[in-house]
Amino acid sequence: MKKGVKIVTIGGGSSYTPELVEGFIKRFDELPIRELWLVDIEAGREKLEIVGAMAKRMVEAAGIDCEVHLTLDRRAALKDADFVTTQFRVGLLDARIKDESIPLKHGIIGQETNGAGGMFKAFRTIPVILGIVEDMKELCPNAWLINFTNPAGMVTEAVLRYGKWEKVIGLCNVPIGAIKSASDVLKKPEEDLFFKFAGINHLHWHRIFDKDGTELTEQVIDGLYAPDANPDKVVENIKNMRFLYEQVRNLKMLPCPYHRYYYMTDDMLAEELEAFKTEGSRGQVVKRLEESLFELYKDPNLDHKPEELSKRGGAHYSDAACEIINSIYNNKGTMMVVSTRNNGAIDDVPYDSAIEITSVIRAHGAEPVNFGKFPPAQRGLLQVMKAMEELTIEAAVTGSYDTALQAFTLNPLVPSGDIAQTVLDELLEAHKEHLPQFFTKVEA
Ligand code: G6P
Repeated sequence: MKKGVKIVTIGGGSSYTPELVEGFIKRFDELPIRELWLVDIEAGREKLEIVGAMAKRMVEAAGIDCEVHLTLDRRAALKDADFVTTQFRVGLLDARIKDESIPLKHGIIGQETNGAGGMFKAFRTIPVILGIVEDMKELCPNAWLINFTNPAGMVTEAVLRYGKWEKVIGLCNVPIGAIKSASDVLKKPEEDLFFKFAGINHLHWHRIFDKDGTELTEQVIDGLYAPDANPDKVVENIKNMRFLYEQVRNLKMLPCPYHRYYYMTDDMLAEELEAFKTEGSRGQVVKRLEESLFELYKDPNLDHKPEELSKRGGAHYSDAACEIINSIYNNKGTMMVVSTRNNGAIDDVPYDSAIEITSVIRAHGAEPVNFGKFPPAQRGLLQVMKAMEELTIEAAVTGSYDTALQAFTLNPLVPSGDIAQTVLDELLEAHKEHLPQFFTKVEA
């Protein structure tokens, strides 16, 4: 590996790629990347060419010795890779818009990674990631897979459980935003605080300690959610609606922004339905945002990440991916919050499932900081959601309609019974093209 690093990014035509390139450029002294391969599919060719040309300008402006390759040939790119990062979206944004708008039309939450939409994103994505893993076994058997394709937790678990690929770390930007907001509330630098996160992707809680060992969690809860406080906006795509203060205070842990879907479902639904009427689903908003981003990227004079990219919910993701790679490559021992195999770090979920947890990142991978047991309020929701994830992953792999319906029935954001089946059937029909594993079952 010390010859200079080869990175392969699948979904290279993504609008987030400039952040990734910026992250590599700023770490180049520590992390000498000699080759960056941006891979996409035919449907993403135009975006790949635009953002790829911009990546080349960025690298050139930085004056680093790194070749940027653009290709539609995934296997050619993967040969001898050291790190593979995945940021693809099966079915592009149009599929996301269906995930969001079909449930909303039935009056239920329509969201990219939660509820019915999130389960369908898993159904489409998991077979593709498992295909990538099969190629990696053959072409780059020593490489690390750093995944930030959503739903990141379920994708990581599928790679571990069904792909039987150990060298995988899943990533999310929510903890990064939560750390920044706590440090703002406390007016203390992040480096002076310790954050203990545990849970699963988009459903974790955390505690905060200062350098004297004093716990500051309740102070941050008060600072963010007391009746006279300004709730934080950790990610752009979720409204910073106020949590129920007494309930969150009683948790004695900070929830993540996505907990609003579970702790305040009706308010979130009302807000989503209203936004759906006025500006469309989040996917439709993002589509407009992306169009203007790609207009900017076409500018032959633009050679740095534009400010407008920060309007996307996924800001900081790519930079965190660069830091994980850096930490593995240099055995740095950086503390990060990642999706990795539980291995007993959280007592309340299966040993071999993926969890999202504060971990030390070293050359051998992510070493979770032991968390132990959750109190019942957290445990109940966590266990339901973990079981729902297990069923969703199993349905994605087997194409079993019955397992998918079971997962739908268990998901707290999908009302059970007829409506679960109606939404399931409609989404299956809408996404038929990307769900060959279910196809014959549906016909039957
Ligand atoms: C948040 C989540 C990400 C998700 C993103 C969507 O940051 O943590 O998992 O990808 O939002 O943002 P978007 O701008 O696409 O709605």
